[in-house]
Amino acid sequence: MPQAPRSRYTYGAIILHWLMAFALAGMVVSGLWMTGAIDRADDRALAFRVYQLHKSFGLSLLVLLAVRLAWRLTHRPPALPATMAKAMRGIAHVTHWALYVLMAAIPLAGWAMVSASVWDLPTIWFGLFEWPHLPGLADLPVDRKGPVEETLKTVHRLLAYGLAGIVLIHAGAALKHHVIDGDDILSRMIPMLKPKRKPDPDPHPEAGA
Ligand code: HEM
Repeated sequence: MPQAPRSRYTYGAIILHWLMAFALAGMVVSGLWMTGAIDRADDRALAFRVYQLHKSFGLSLLVLLAVRLAWRLTHRPPALPATMAKAMRGIAHVTHWALYVLMAAIPLAGWAMVSASVWDLPTIWFGLFEWPHLPGLADLPVDRKGPVEETLKTVHRLLAYGLAGIVLIHAGAALKHHVIDGDDILSRMIPMLKPKRKPDPDPHPEAGA
């Protein structure tokens, strides 16, 4: 059963949020860099190592997401300010769930892509052990693997670009709440930041992130 709403996020939720935010930014940057660097002779050796790190961090983010979703489904997030229009609350809600869906779909597409790869390269998780490929895809006949891998590559890339776009909207909205509206939306995810206005005595209890 979800617990009663609080006035701000727990420290566990705040740490998980920022950890994943910075790690996801690193995933997009490393993904863009390594796919270009692999074609440059001078950078190829480093690019191979970055591929392994990209896969190791990406799969770890999938595990962290499971922890985060478990938290989200058992805790009710802090309520949104009563001053927020119903339509804006709806948009915030859809954006937050779109972020959860993308945070799951992108690493799953990446995992599926390397599993179906014609190169059949192993994923060594931070150099420690071999992370298994997804069985159904790894067992495909070689002539089927090529088109499946290419499709998953495109899906992985487009979803990652979509995530980057939604994160920009999400961060822009949080800044607008802090700078223009002066409410406590951003400060409850960054506790040392003080809102210009006092939190509402009667916030909307049903919506949040
Ligand atoms: C967790 C979130 C992840 C994000 C945000 C992310 C993001 C990206 C991005 C932006 C690219 C560059 C795409 C391009 O422009 O071509 C990329 C490439 C790639 N990613 Fe990820 N990735 C994630 C997870 C994973 C995981 C879990 C794996 C595998 C286990 C993976 C494997 C790959 C591979 C192999 C490529 C290179 C594809 C190619 O050769 O074109 N990624 N990723």
